[in-house]
Amino acid sequence: MPDQQPLAGLILAAGKGTRMKSAIPKCLHPVCGLPMAEWVIRAMKHCGIVKPIVVVGHGSEHMRSVLGDSVEYAIQEEQLGTGHAVLTAKSLLADWNGTLVIAPGDTPLLDGEMLGRLVAHHLNSGAAATLALCRMEDPTGYGRVVVEGERVLAIVEERDATENYKRIRDVNTGLYCFDCRKLFEVLPKLENSNSQGEYYLTDVIGRLVAAGAPVEAVFFTEAASFAGVNDRWQLAGVSDTMRMRILQAHAEAGVTIVDPRTTYIDADVTIGSDSTVGAMSILEGSTAIGCSCQIGPGAKISNSQIGSKCTVLMSLLNRATLHDGARCGPYANLRPGAVLGLNSKVGNFVEIKNAELAESVSVSHLSYIGDASIGAGTNIGAGTITCNYDGFQKNRTEIGADAFIGSNSTLLAPITIGDGAMVAAGSVVDQSVPADALAFGRARQENKLSWVKHWRERKRR
Ligand code: UD1
Ligand code: MG
Repeated sequence: MPDQQPLAGLILAAGKGTRMKSAIPKCLHPVCGLPMAEWVIRAMKHCGIVKPIVVVGHGSEHMRSVLGDSVEYAIQEEQLGTGHAVLTAKSLLADWNGTLVIAPGDTPLLDGEMLGRLVAHHLNSGAAATLALCRMEDPTGYGRVVVEGERVLAIVEERDATENYKRIRDVNTGLYCFDCRKLFEVLPKLENSNSQGEYYLTDVIGRLVAAGAPVEAVFFTEAASFAGVNDRWQLAGVSDTMRMRILQAHAEAGVTIVDPRTTYIDADVTIGSDSTVGAMSILEGSTAIGCSCQIGPGAKISNSQIGSKCTVLMSLLNRATLHDGARCGPYANLRPGAVLGLNSKVGNFVEIKNAELAESVSVSHLSYIGDASIGAGTNIGAGTITCNYDGFQKNRTEIGADAFIGSNSTLLAPITIGDGAMVAAGSVVDQSVPADALAFGRARQENKLSWVKHWRERKRR
């Protein structure tokens, strides 16, 4: 490859996406946890594009707030066509003498390696424009590329194509490289005298050819990777392809995916080697999972941090943290701020919210622990409830190390239970308990001997 000049990239994402029937701009619809446009931005960055620009129009403020400031924006107030969309970036590219890569914002399966191949060919040949072509079994809806021998002559949009052109199966993928200066010389000359009354970027090709500028094409065999999303069913199809790519990458990195058909892992989730993801599991957002974990079956984990050798069985985790060796489930609900210390255990029908469990804490059954901290080695008996809400505010429960909370205890926060303290089963605890003390918060049991026998005899009379 010749000395690589810096690359600029343009992502066309101003269209409304009418067929999505959505209040959200089309290119923001998520595929495996990332907006479609974000996938294209990442592909561009991956192939070394230093100046990515997104053309926004419909929902432009929303687009900017989601896509952030690692890209520049061109605003296309009115969607007058793809050629017009490119023209809106003119001032941002005024000093750009190098290569401009253009891609649609609704093709999330494009990857950086494919973009890199196109760019390499473009730079080697020194062409004014290089198209990415694909041969499609069913080319319906795509622009057809008119080729003579090795030479590209023009692109004809489907709606403007005669029957002869419609038979062409070499389609325009919508991905191109341009000599930026030559492109902007031609763009203002485009006309909109076509069936859609739009300024087509695709017409630039015919004009460059007519002016004697070299136009190249690179054939890609990965037709599926150019799939554009125009409606929700296509979104589902593209999401499925992306999902399989993600699962395969994890499998290749040493993660066992038991049932790919029912496993959903977002783009940015990380999983250490020798971990197993069981069937019917959903791992979302920025979730990070360590090595040798057993996740699922039936786990839904969002934005959580999980150490190594952890087990999550049929549970819901949202913004939770598990330290190494922690176990939860089945049927645990770990809400934001739940922290499970080293080798701690949370069992069935336990809800934890904004509470830190230290090392080797055990909350095995049927409990609610909210706004609390629990010291190392403490055992929380079945049915324990921290009453953290008094109708006005949340109050904290602080439990020390090596304490024992008997089953079915009600802890009225704010309250402190000292190290080594014990709470008798069935207690309502409304005063703090000193270290090593036994708290009884219930009536003392009394056995009335033969009482039942006499009672029955009275009844039978
Ligand atoms: C376009 C190409 C077609 C190609 C196909 C590949 C043109 C005229 N046609 O057709 O040759 O085969 O892509 O998928 O370019 N957009 C704007 N502003 C506009 C119009 C569109 O930003 O004024 C954006 C859209 O948001 C979308 C992208 O450009 O992300 C492509 O537009 P779309 O209307 O989907 O073009 P196609 O009909 O698919
Ligand atoms: Mg399209």
